[in-house]
Amino acid sequence: MEDLQKLETDILKAITVLDNLAALEDLRVSEVGKKGRVSLLMRELGKMTPEEKKKFGPKLNGLKNTIIQAITDHKATLEAEELNRRLQSERVDITLPSPPENQGSIHPITQVMDEVTEIFTELGFSVAEGPEIEEDFYNFTALNIPPEHPARQMHDTFYFPENADGNRKLLRTHTSPVQIRTMMEGEPPYRIIVPGRTYRCDSDATHTPMFHQVESLVIDKDIHMGHLKWCIEEFCRKFFELDDVKIRFRPSYFPFTEPSAEVDIGCAFKDGEILIGEGDDWLEIMGCGMVNPRVLENVNLDPDVYQGFAFGMGLDRISMLKWGIPDLRDFFAADMRWLKHYGFAALDIPSLSTQNNNPGGRSQSNRGGSSSPTGDRPPINNNAGGK
Ligand code: PHE
Repeated sequence: MEDLQKLETDILKAITVLDNLAALEDLRVSEVGKKGRVSLLMRELGKMTPEEKKKFGPKLNGLKNTIIQAITDHKATLEAEELNRRLQSERVDITLPSPPENQGSIHPITQVMDEVTEIFTELGFSVAEGPEIEEDFYNFTALNIPPEHPARQMHDTFYFPENADGNRKLLRTHTSPVQIRTMMEGEPPYRIIVPGRTYRCDSDATHTPMFHQVESLVIDKDIHMGHLKWCIEEFCRKFFELDDVKIRFRPSYFPFTEPSAEVDIGCAFKDGEILIGEGDDWLEIMGCGMVNPRVLENVNLDPDVYQGFAFGMGLDRISMLKWGIPDLRDFFAADMRWLKHYGFAALDIPSLSTQNNNPGGRSQSNRGGSSSPTGDRPPINNNAGGK
């Protein structure tokens, strides 16, 4: 007991020379742990006379506290040293320019979204958005697709598990729910486009479980099918950079439009390539129609006062067409070689701006990287396209 001072000096010395946390923990256990040296000494207090207890009690307590404090301090020092070592070894110099082989590019879908957005904003449309995890009501019911409607089967929907209230959320199968959200949120007139991701349980060369659409909705007094036709023609001329683009409206059916049509674009299939604006073949690029009066009623608009049109276009499909990309799955494979070939330089500007700046119009030579010019497209699957 007399040697408490020496014991303290020895233990403190032993602590300071330790250079790792595991050894420090061992020391803590062997000195002040339950069966540690200092703890055992404290147990002896029980056998002492009251005078001895008075003398040694505070000393032993002081010793224990000093040691615990020294261990805590040393632990903090070791941890700080360890952190510094890691920071040094894992240091990244973010001021270094990235090597050319690691430089990124704009994905063709992003580029096409920018181009489509630019074309429609020039025509007076604004951009609206909605959630990708959607409620049944917006994706189906309000669009005149009630629960037993056969059109639901066509959508290959990804459903979430049922909620306590019996409703199932889903991944939106099209951008059309944003029509409903827009009409429920604000007052007419509406003139919107909705570019975004959509999901269906489907995968092959021309279908991926996630794909992109751009929706459009125009509602006002006196809107008719002529407006729809003009908008689509104008868009195709600008997007495909052709003055004389052939377009065909084929009668079709969508529960949320009446009448409904699918739009085909005139093209030629030659030697496994698609040429837009030539030949006698047709390729479907979108669904459209006049908004069904029932949909207007569902959002409390009077169909006798307001009418409008809507369309939904597959962005992936029009990208494949424009750039001659044969397999849709490659869009999402994150293959650096593909991205380099089909990607765009970060500062490329969307087509319309380029056209304005350059009255001769632009060609695909506007693309960044080592992309192929218009006449040099890789072969494309004749069945290429959207949903
Ligand atoms: N939502 C339809 C689809 O995904 C496309 C569409 C939109 C059709 C708007 C008509 C009007 O197939």
